[in-house]
Amino acid sequence: MTPPLRFRRWLPLLGLGVVLVLTGCDRQQDTLAPKSHASTDIANLFWWMMGVSWFGLALVVALMIFAWRKAHRRPGHEVKEGEQLGFRVVIGAGIVFPIVLIAALFVIGDIFVIKVTQAPAKDATRMTIVVTGHQWWWEVRYPGTTAVTANEIHIPVRTPVRLEVKTADVIHSFWVPELNRTIDAMPGKRNAIELYADAVGRYRGQCDEFCGLQHAHMGFYVYADPPTVFRRWLANQEKPARTPGGGLAAQGKQAFMTSSCASCHTIRGTSASGYVGPDLTHVATRSTLAALTIPNDRRDLSHWIVDSQAVKPGNQMPNMHLSGDKVKALVAYLEGLN
Ligand code: CUA
Repeated sequence: MTPPLRFRRWLPLLGLGVVLVLTGCDRQQDTLAPKSHASTDIANLFWWMMGVSWFGLALVVALMIFAWRKAHRRPGHEVKEGEQLGFRVVIGAGIVFPIVLIAALFVIGDIFVIKVTQAPAKDATRMTIVVTGHQWWWEVRYPGTTAVTANEIHIPVRTPVRLEVKTADVIHSFWVPELNRTIDAMPGKRNAIELYADAVGRYRGQCDEFCGLQHAHMGFYVYADPPTVFRRWLANQEKPARTPGGGLAAQGKQAFMTSSCASCHTIRGTSASGYVGPDLTHVATRSTLAALTIPNDRRDLSHWIVDSQAVKPGNQMPNMHLSGDKVKALVAYLEGLN
């Protein structure tokens, strides 16, 4: 049985609507699946506000139906003197009261969120992580250590960490929906928030302030590790880069240091000390490249070196026009930096 023509015209629109709704079914970056005390409080606040809003809507609709039915029962009715009171009720309950209520909800909601998501104070016993937003990736530093990484932040599970956010260029915003609210990275300013996870796992985050062409490709992961795993990870990140024993990887190192790679990237323990692109000292320990744009495997890494502009147009890395052999050697070197 085919649906009538009138209905069939709307089918593509209906399909599009269903697709849009289904995209929300991905459980990544779900604000309503909180994994910390701060995000749990935010989710609860959301449900309370939602409940109050639905109650208000139901009340207004009920009153409208009531008024409509009453008006229909008395056709040809004219407004009399005494109905001035009704007019005042409309102004009071229909305009003044909603403005006061919405303003109060806004202020209370703000104060509540600021209170429950506050960054832990800076002190000697507390771990601080400094994240810097770049167009379009995240630099991650662990003050008090030499560890520098990019786009993948490790924290010990069930430990409040002070996260400080700044920017190297334009405004970005750091957000891990399952762990806390969003926090802006403002030029000339350092904002702080708590980073805390209830359970071991990997949490996806995203820049949520439009910051240029590749804003959408400015993702990151927060890994909440068991404390011993975290300490091992940090100790490894602190070490200078591994020196290749010989062969293709050694040729790759030579190629890296003598080309423009070294003027944009740092590899600790070598002469490469650029700061335009991410620190590559332990690049092989990361699961993705270009802020979660591509997986960190041999094929994608090669493609990135040869033609990064095709992968992520507008990024700071120029196409290097390197020969196939040089690319193979570079990949062999970088794959060994774990
Ligand atoms: Cu950085 Cu959007």
